[in-house]
Amino acid sequence: MPKPTASIAHIGIAVPDIEGASAFYRDVLGLETKPLDDADGASIQAISLGDSDIEFLQPETDTGPVAKFLQKRGPGIHHICVRVDDLDSTLARCREHGYRLVDEEPRVGAHGHRIAFVHPKSTSGILIELTE
Ligand code: CO
Repeated sequence: MPKPTASIAHIGIAVPDIEGASAFYRDVLGLETKPLDDADGASIQAISLGDSDIEFLQPETDTGPVAKFLQKRGPGIHHICVRVDDLDSTLARCREHGYRLVDEEPRVGAHGHRIAFVHPKSTSGILIELTE
């Protein structure tokens, strides 16, 4: 098997207000925002920083996972998304090594990418999203 590669696709940050959260990146760093998207009951505003994005997640309802995160912990890093070569074999290695998966099978996430989440209890308190 060739050695797997991985990189940070994006860092998801839970916020009550995308517009306010984006201001620093737009006004101070001069970065452009990407078109809005949504997934898992949240609006998503992505901002590109080189090969990785910041994604601000603003809940659209009071009951989704991002809304619950905000109620419990306030604004902050919600998840880190790691881009891998092969999502299926990565999930197989998760199972092999006993990692708890939120998504047993890949599903379609924001921007139409195949994704799966690994439970933060298995990964030092950080919710990990895997994508290809
Ligand atoms: Co994400």
